[in-house]
Amino acid sequence: MTPIETTPEWSHLESLRITHGEFDLRGAFASDSTRASRLTFEAGDLTVDLSKHLIDDDILSALLEVARAADLKQRIEALFSGERINTTEERSVMHMALRSEPGDGYTVDGEPVVPKVHEVLDRMSGFARRIRSGEWKGFTGSRIRHVVNIGIGGSDLGPAMAYRALRSYTHPQIGVQFVSNIDPADLASTLARVEAESTLFIVSSKSFTTLETLANAKAARAWLVDRLGDDAAVARHFVAVSTNTDEVEAFGIETDNMFEFWDWVGGRYSMDSAIGLSLMVAIGPESFREMLAGFRKIDDHFRHRPLEDNVPVLLALIGIWYRNLLGLSTYAVLPYSNDLDRFPAYLQQLDMESNGKRTRLDGTLAGIDTGPIIWGEPGTNGQHAFFQLLHQGTTVVPADLIGFIEPNDEIANQHDMLFGNMLAQAEALGFGKSREEVQAEDVEERLVPHRTFPGNRPTSLIVAPRLTPSVLGQLIALYEHKVFTQGSIWGINSFDQWGVELGKVLATRVIGELTDGNEPDLEHDSSTNAQIRRYREAKRTAG
Ligand code: F6P
Repeated sequence: MTPIETTPEWSHLESLRITHGEFDLRGAFASDSTRASRLTFEAGDLTVDLSKHLIDDDILSALLEVARAADLKQRIEALFSGERINTTEERSVMHMALRSEPGDGYTVDGEPVVPKVHEVLDRMSGFARRIRSGEWKGFTGSRIRHVVNIGIGGSDLGPAMAYRALRSYTHPQIGVQFVSNIDPADLASTLARVEAESTLFIVSSKSFTTLETLANAKAARAWLVDRLGDDAAVARHFVAVSTNTDEVEAFGIETDNMFEFWDWVGGRYSMDSAIGLSLMVAIGPESFREMLAGFRKIDDHFRHRPLEDNVPVLLALIGIWYRNLLGLSTYAVLPYSNDLDRFPAYLQQLDMESNGKRTRLDGTLAGIDTGPIIWGEPGTNGQHAFFQLLHQGTTVVPADLIGFIEPNDEIANQHDMLFGNMLAQAEALGFGKSREEVQAEDVEERLVPHRTFPGNRPTSLIVAPRLTPSVLGQLIALYEHKVFTQGSIWGINSFDQWGVELGKVLATRVIGELTDGNEPDLEHDSSTNAQIRRYREAKRTAG
């Protein structure tokens, strides 16, 4: 594949390169009364206003040419047709099948996958109904009141984020907790909130070999058996979600209590697979399927819309404009929805584990920057913390602001205040406040520079009628396909994650050295060696 930066289309884009200060957003709006309507797009139930980005028609069409030069349409078809586009792991990438309709023809290696997906979905639905209705009893005959999902990364962030996002749809008598961290504080604080006889543990791990998850799952099992006094209790209180039947059995969970998914589902693309079981128990199978239908709406949009009004593609191209042409290294996601408070963290894994890479598909080093740093917090909280930098700092941070017309909770006019704040922030960021405007307010001259806002701080406004299961599915799929588009243009594999391996290997060695009573010789750098010795010494002194 030709590196994108060596194509004439990229050279043309470079010829349009500007600094953010050179773009005149005020002027762009003043000279074109149709700017907002022309740059506002629909995808499913999402209305996406891109008019406050630092783009004009020439820039946008140059970006679209870059997408064409990267054969984006063919890449999208390769994805949907099950080609092994995850070349370093020799796998297909088929998370779209997780939200398929029974008649859809998705295949992997020539084998239809939709029937398997629906078989597991039906098993999950049956199980979730039994838990929700109280038909499934714990070992002592109690019904399940607490679900604890034990998993990390893609086996945690998706369901944990969605459980909070869909709080209004959850079962009132079943609480779901999420344990991910190897820090014993995570499991200990969770176990302190639940009772063994009414708790179901869902051990979620694609590989079923992840250190944190297995350590937490073993400790949870020991806690349960200790409280209920019988190993046989495990069968009523533990289920597993994994691709690895052998390891699940080796752990001691019967395959009857296992919900399967497949290696063509990447961890960070798996929240709509059986990894979503804890979420399904919480919101019920019907709402879960509504969420899947939402994902599907955006899959259809991404696959079939022309590039020029394909919203994930446009978001991706605008992101490339900032990352590669304006040199902006971070991108914020700011949901004006408290229930979406974990959405930025979810997107961090989705985006940064997918596109945080410097090696191209062909093994050569990328000649241009790839994935940006993704971060964010819900509004309005962020306004009273880091928005100062967004408005007046020396670093420009493009941002997506996400809001909803209808709230899921009514308290006085607080939702109007929330939505109004979102619009006001986008306006302030985009248009700022000039020196003359400040002076016109009779401000003391020495304060004028401090009270001036430069503007030209770009935002998208992503608005949906309400935060429903379907809309959540649409939002996630929007970002999944944005990430895929960017990876395709940069020529990297968005579906492996070799960058997490080295730390895992070194951790295994260091953990051994911290706890081995024989105190083996240390052969790390002098800093790591000293830290290990200090830790051992402190433990010895503590007794
Ligand atoms: O360490 C990274 C990672 O492999 C992620 O990609 C994955 O989501 C997470 O660990 C958990 O992996 P598993 O589901 O196999 O336990």
